[in-house]
Amino acid sequence: MKKVFIQTYGCQMNEYDSQQMLQVLSAKGFEKTTRPEEAQLLLINSCAVREKSEVKALSFLGRIAKLKKTDPSKVIGFGGCVGQTEGPKLLKRHSFLDFAFGTNNYRELPQMIEDFEHRWADTSADDERDTLLPSFRPDSKSQAFITITNGCDKFCSYCIVPFTRGRELSRMPEEIVAEAEILVQRGVSEIMLLGQNVNSYWGKNQSGRYTKLHELLHIFQKESEGGKLSGLKRLRYTTSHPRDFDEDLARDFRDLEILCEYLHLPFQAGSDAVLKRMRRFYRIDSYLRKLEKLREYSPDIALSTDIIVGFPGETREDFQKTLDVLRQVEFDNAYYFKYSARPYTRSEQMEDDVSPEEKTERIQALKELQRSISRKKYREDIGRKVEIMLEGPSRTKSHLWTGRTRGNRLVHLPKEDTFANGDILWAEILDATHCWLDGRRLDLPRAIVA
Ligand code: SAH
Ligand code: SF4
Ligand code: F3S
Repeated sequence: MKKVFIQTYGCQMNEYDSQQMLQVLSAKGFEKTTRPEEAQLLLINSCAVREKSEVKALSFLGRIAKLKKTDPSKVIGFGGCVGQTEGPKLLKRHSFLDFAFGTNNYRELPQMIEDFEHRWADTSADDERDTLLPSFRPDSKSQAFITITNGCDKFCSYCIVPFTRGRELSRMPEEIVAEAEILVQRGVSEIMLLGQNVNSYWGKNQSGRYTKLHELLHIFQKESEGGKLSGLKRLRYTTSHPRDFDEDLARDFRDLEILCEYLHLPFQAGSDAVLKRMRRFYRIDSYLRKLEKLREYSPDIALSTDIIVGFPGETREDFQKTLDVLRQVEFDNAYYFKYSARPYTRSEQMEDDVSPEEKTERIQALKELQRSISRKKYREDIGRKVEIMLEGPSRTKSHLWTGRTRGNRLVHLPKEDTFANGDILWAEILDATHCWLDGRRLDLPRAIVA
């Protein structure tokens, strides 16, 4: 069987796309390998969001080019978000690169590789399948992603995504539910709905009616109660934009049993002046009010966020306001990034005037503050009984398994023979760090809530 190796960078949407690539290639008789040396076809699914992300993907391309020197029959394709805008340039620059592709044409991979198939003349081709097996899902675990919106229309001034992913498009609700149904039949217990701006989902159904994310979540809840999605235990979605996060969505965390109490809501900066230049179209007090409302409906909801430090013109006073927001909200986790100018964006025209040293210092300050907050929050779980979903053996400690709480916290617990991926059980939390919990299984039926 022919083998394909895919190196994936970036967000969950890219991970989802890589799975889809494996799926279309499986119909051409390809099987996935994690060893680039043994692959006939090598693909890079790149991310362009920060300069560093792009550099990573390009340096990996350099590494696999070396493999091709020893085995010229290898075919190399460069795709994803960098491929979308820079593909033609890369093809001109690197003679070892066979083809490039973008974020919306990877379904044509089988056609793209046709020109190169003669290089593998001695690899058997009779294992080609005519049709896609609908239920084929490489790497399937108990959790799965489904992309429900693609692209973004927000055009935040720093962000390249609207250029790499194009205009925002929502999939039909029926199509999404059908994909979820296949996954659930295959044993998936948790689904994460994906989009760069998932809460502006606006999908037209078969009868031409538009469906909001709030309504889609209700469809999932209903179908999970003995309908097409019975067996689905947990639902999440990401990423949300504060402007499009409304009260209906906040109330869903109270009303929908299937929806886990966890929300990733990036605020990016604590200063209104910076937010304005970022073109985020909200003020920080309206962001904070939305979280207050949300906590009225779901008092224990776990929150996480993204922050950019050193956006052009960000003063030390501006940055202090970002720290203030962290102190006030007490997120479970925060992901922070040094600003880097990206091609095609508006902020590329602004002077990148915060020095690299200053950006590093600000990141350090964020890290220290957030660590202490996370630690405090995680330690509040000690002694509590929590519902967890098992995710598989710990990667580092063979006597442990991992699970996740509804609030997305990682839990380690001693392995038992009966453990299976996707099982829901109760655990008592015994200890905690700033990024995981230690627990033990409790012999409680599911219905008993702590
Ligand atoms: N769609 C999501 C996230 C998009 S990219 C949203 O709107 O929140 C993920 C994160 O990368 C962003 O939230 C932002 O914090 C960061 N990011 C995007 N562009 C960046 C840039 N030019 N420099 C540094 N960080 C950036
Ligand atoms: Fe980028 Fe803004 Fe769209 Fe998020 S909402 S993907 S940050 S343009
Ligand atoms: Fe990166 Fe593209 Fe996702 S730029 S963050 S992989 S949408």
